[in-house]
Amino acid sequence: MTSKEIRQKFLKFFKSKGHKIIPSASLIPENDPSVLFTTAGMQQFKPYYIGKKNAKEDFGSLNVASVQKCVRTSDIDEVGNGSHLTFFEMLGNFSFGGYWKIDAIKYAYEFITSPDWMNLKIDYISVFAGEDKIPPDSESEKIWKSIDPNIVVKKSGRADNFWGPTGEEGPCGPTTEIYVDGIEIWNIVFNEFYQNSDKTLKPLETKGVDTGMGLERLVKVVQKVPTVFDTDLFALIISSIISIVGDKPIEKIRIVADHLKAIAFIISDGVEVSNVGHGYVLRRLIRRAMLIHHKFIGASLDVNFYKAPVETIINTYPELNEKKDKIFEAIGEETEKFEETLEKGLKEFNWVARTYENEKMNKQELPASIVFGLVTTYGFPFELIEEISKERGMTVDRQLFQNRMEEHKIKSRASSEQKFKGGLGGHSEMEIKYHTATHLLRQALEEVLGENMTQKGSNITPERLRFDFSFNRKMTDEEEQKVEDLVNQKISENLPVNKMVMNKEEAEKTGAAHVFGEKYGDEVSIYYIGDSLESAWSKEFCGGPHAENTGDLASIGGPEENPRDKKPKRVFKIIKEEASSAGVRRIKAILE
Ligand code: SER
Repeated sequence: MTSKEIRQKFLKFFKSKGHKIIPSASLIPENDPSVLFTTAGMQQFKPYYIGKKNAKEDFGSLNVASVQKCVRTSDIDEVGNGSHLTFFEMLGNFSFGGYWKIDAIKYAYEFITSPDWMNLKIDYISVFAGEDKIPPDSESEKIWKSIDPNIVVKKSGRADNFWGPTGEEGPCGPTTEIYVDGIEIWNIVFNEFYQNSDKTLKPLETKGVDTGMGLERLVKVVQKVPTVFDTDLFALIISSIISIVGDKPIEKIRIVADHLKAIAFIISDGVEVSNVGHGYVLRRLIRRAMLIHHKFIGASLDVNFYKAPVETIINTYPELNEKKDKIFEAIGEETEKFEETLEKGLKEFNWVARTYENEKMNKQELPASIVFGLVTTYGFPFELIEEISKERGMTVDRQLFQNRMEEHKIKSRASSEQKFKGGLGGHSEMEIKYHTATHLLRQALEEVLGENMTQKGSNITPERLRFDFSFNRKMTDEEEQKVEDLVNQKISENLPVNKMVMNKEEAEKTGAAHVFGEKYGDEVSIYYIGDSLESAWSKEFCGGPHAENTGDLASIGGPEENPRDKKPKRVFKIIKEEASSAGVRRIKAILE
């Protein structure tokens, strides 16, 4: 039986039992801020369970059925193992006061076991054992036994046999689940309660039935294949990847296939890549797929990475055809963007990991600060760092990382609050440029005057920079010229300015410049100028902010000029070099 036939049979079966067939809702739930994506078939029907809407009026029936597309990112770590997916379809029948446990269980039994329908053998079923003063669901157990006296019944508590609510509050209740070939196929929820946001339960006026059966899992057991990835919902997609990359670890290929499918569906429901909400999940999925493709499958990251598989996905799900251009465009743009970061990030990871290994600290754990830096600076998904670390025999502590992320969020909230209160939008554009120029100057001085020169202070206004450093004589004109030339050369090289956050101990090991005697927090950021921290021409402990690129320093002629297109002759100019106090020299410089 093909997956298409299975979908049709499901709907036909429930139609024959008096259900109205409702099309899948969007992956982005309407009017439900409690969840980001549609994660279950019941999502679009929530208002009917709690009496906010009337099914009879809207559908002409109290009983409905659907095939709902769903996205669940909570199981992302399990994807690849054979039965978990981020995108899947859920077959479901629902009743809002129409029928109750007897009919719901009878329908499920008939659909699964009858030779006219799925013709499968049930391994066992599970029912709610009772917990937290909620009584056991003996009614369901009795119904099952009356249908099949030999059925194997397992009982579990709230964790496994009680469902909902989705989000903070909502309908919920005990479930009975059907297992075939060792996997959970169908979850039949009896919504008897409403859970309030304070976690207390109250009985629902109208009792509802909410069932969910993963299409991919059902197809797997019907088609008698080892994993969901071997079903006709995946086989062609998987082989289109294999035909490009060859014989590579199959679990990784499966993850890429799963993610590309979720990506295509999310884009087709109108989501655009961004740094918040749905767009952020989309970005994470694209980046995760790319990283896995690059790192574990080892294939190059040109358009072939996604072109053939996405074509195959669209052929497998013709409803995506309408949004084909949009899908390719969005994936194309994001992959291009991430490609640049990716290479740098992987280099950085290897370097950091190597440095850490070289320290022979006998520690197997990658510090949370480094993990944090990779996530925030390079957009590395956390799970990926976990996987790459494992490859090198290292571990990362998820909890520590999450704590740090939390702290970071609180801090950045506090700092934007502060800026807001101070009435300042942060720093002016010129100050930011002078700030980056100061880093270039410091490094140039070190190269021309030697490592004895150390920074004593710096001061920036929108008009100029001032830099104090210890040195025991006046600089010669030649030295001044060399320093100036070096800074201008770096400006003309259009070098990227990057930031990496790590703990102080780690940061000191990178050899980044910092002011002696200065108090730094436990966590510092290093700004480095160049493609990677390892190869950077300049690296310094610094709070920022900085220009994105040294080429930006040449841009003083207004927005119509693009400084990166032309070579600046002389942008940076030393206007004064004088004694500031004993053994300390002071330079004033401008960007012309
Ligand atoms: N809402 C339940 C689930 O998601 C049954 O549909 O499993």
